[in-house]
Amino acid sequence: MATLLQVRELRKTFGSLQALDGVDLDVRAGSFHGLIGPNGSGKSTLLKAIAGAHLPTSGTVSFDGRDITRMTPYDRARIGMSLKFQITAVLRELSVYDNVLLALQANQGIWSLVRSLGRRALQDEVMGALERFRLADRADELAGSLSHGEQQWLEISMALAPRPKLLLLDEPTGGMSPEERRVTGELLQPIRCDCTLVIVEHDLDFIRDFCDVLTVLDQGRILDTGTVDQIQRSPRVQQVYTTRA
Ligand SMILES: Nc1ncnc2c1ncn2[C@@H]1O[C@H](COP(=O)(O)OP(=O)(O)O)[C@@H](O)[C@H]1O
Ligand SMILES: [Mg+2]
Repeated sequence: MATLLQVRELRKTFGSLQALDGVDLDVRAGSFHGLIGPNGSGKSTLLKAIAGAHLPTSGTVSFDGRDITRMTPYDRARIGMSLKFQITAVLRELSVYDNVLLALQANQGIWSLVRSLGRRALQDEVMGALERFRLADRADELAGSLSHGEQQWLEISMALAPRPKLLLLDEPTGGMSPEERRVTGELLQPIRCDCTLVIVEHDLDFIRDFCDVLTVLDQGRILDTGTVDQIQRSPRVQQVYTTRA
């Protein structure tokens, strides 16, 4: 399968801190790629550098065959990238429906959306995005009235609404109950058909069921990449995890 995302020698420093210290990453088109590592190992920084929320200190990011290292987050979204940040960011005072509508128009501009789709089709797009995460019957409620887990689902719906080629999720199941986590995995499965996923996740059971490939970060460096089984047997990963435990 073709490589959709390629990261080479990526470095990001904050003052004297090396948050990313020469990261290489290849994400195959169509894969669900997990990213794990201890707190502070650089997972969120890596996702932000991929999505353009951070400019790297050096190194390159290529997406769909083109170098996007200096491209704005807005332009990256337009060519098919979507990021859900670690911190929940729904607009609590707006309806569930309007949150998704805003996410769609942030990509294309509302007038071009209405012109290209028409009002009815636009409504269908929003409702379709909500249906994927079982939120269609909550469309008129305020986003702030949703439970924490449902707000996370709303955010995933918002990230998926523009139909990205690559979805970057930073701990989407944070603060969820085990049951909500299980359902999240189930609801994400169908996106496999047309979307590649890079997901930061702590829950190893979730990752085992869900990810084709797993990359382990530690102190801004890649420790290892492989299938979940390969990673569980990886001497490099075991060494770091056991010597710190
Ligand atoms: N905006 C920032 N300014 C300064 N330091 C940061 C910033 N963002 C992250 N860091 C630091 O970079 C390191 C990696 O952080 P992060 O990518 O958030 O780790 P993770 O997501 O793996 O927990 C940490 O030491 C963190 O304190
Ligand atoms: Mg993080």
